[in-house]
Amino acid sequence: MLGNFSYHNPTKLYFGDDSLKYLNDELPKYGKTVQLIYGGGSIKKNGIYDAVVEILKSNGKTIVEDPGVMPNPTVEKLNEGVKLARDNKTDLLLAVGGGSCCDYAKAVSVSVNCEDDPWDKYYIRFEEPDCEIVPVACILTMSGTGSEMNAGSVITNHTQKLKIGHVFGDNVMPKFSILNPKFTLSLPKRQMIAGIYDIFNHICEQYFSGEDDNTSDYIAEALMRSVVHSSIIAAENPQDYEARSNIMWTATWALNTLISRGKTTDWMVHMLGQAVGAITDATHGMTLAAVSLPYYRMIMPFGVKKFARFATEVWRVDPDGKSDEQLAQEGLSEMENWMNKLGLTMNITDLGATESDIEAIADATIILDGGYKVLGRDEVVQILKESL
Ligand code: NZQ
Ligand code: ZN
Repeated sequence: MLGNFSYHNPTKLYFGDDSLKYLNDELPKYGKTVQLIYGGGSIKKNGIYDAVVEILKSNGKTIVEDPGVMPNPTVEKLNEGVKLARDNKTDLLLAVGGGSCCDYAKAVSVSVNCEDDPWDKYYIRFEEPDCEIVPVACILTMSGTGSEMNAGSVITNHTQKLKIGHVFGDNVMPKFSILNPKFTLSLPKRQMIAGIYDIFNHICEQYFSGEDDNTSDYIAEALMRSVVHSSIIAAENPQDYEARSNIMWTATWALNTLISRGKTTDWMVHMLGQAVGAITDATHGMTLAAVSLPYYRMIMPFGVKKFARFATEVWRVDPDGKSDEQLAQEGLSEMENWMNKLGLTMNITDLGATESDIEAIADATIILDGGYKVLGRDEVVQILKESL
């Protein structure tokens, strides 16, 4: 049964290889000063920066440069961006990059007109914004997080060894996002596959919970099949536009609030992965890949029917003569084969974590209770040890 819910997604999307031109339609709706947010320079190498700046200039905008958003944006960078926006009276925060730029723009958006310390207010006390929010827009260059059409914003605090996400309300979602699959073609292969696993795991996080029959799980299965299919093509030939365009679109639908409607969700792989990220600063998708199999093998007995369904519906395992347990195990083995084939990092050692980090990672792991098993501290430690 589907539970009760409301559904509203205010982000307008422009998708396709000519989608950047629609920036011209959107810019007149906002004030003169645009804070141009980007990362470590990839957009200068692949020409996206020049194309965006030309459109901003032809629309008479004043550009406030805000470069240097690092993967896993930090609290120090957030504070810098807030000051820049205050000093320049920014009217629009335009993120050009991956999830890190987009998440960072959202964190700045809720902090510019707020007197409290943003980290304490939003990431420790989990308060909602009670101040004017500066509008955010996104030109996406990497598929994975879904940040282009959701209200999530993840910030890392290295001093406190914490990486925490806040899912804000509709009013923090990008007003519009431009998704041109061609913009993702310059992505290094390692980042591409990390993004692919991030997409797949977002779907898993919303799929592995609950026992009821609901439409969201069927949509999730279709999305998972699409990601697996396109990922194999893209891993062979990263320049395959068809595969990359499908991956980009699935990423958006994997985490734009649709497939969580009317059901419970898990999100423990993300809690473990974020804790690994807080200690290692590793690539987000890889942190998820490194902890996933030990986690899913631990919780599988508590949700065996769903894991059996995952095997037959996503991986097309033949159910003939097999018990649910056998099917469930085969499904996870199929997933493991696929992950290895893509070339994902499958352990936290290769991400820079050692046995001596386990306690700190366990300390940083937030325990959620929506999945098939609520983990105790010992189980978190066990999963992390099995992930080494
Ligand atoms: O900084 P530049 O030079 O642009 O390089 C980036 C960065 O090094 C590079 N890149 C991006 N597009 C490129 C490109 N390089 C060449 N060509 C391109 N077209 O890729 C690297 C990674 O970028 P980043 O934005 O960090 O990756 P991603 O999109 O995976 O975002 C990761 C962040 O998003 C958070 C993660 O925790 C992490 O902090 N998440 C946000 C979520 C949300 N908003 O809902 C959910 C996710 O689960 C995730 O937690
Ligand atoms: Zn993720």
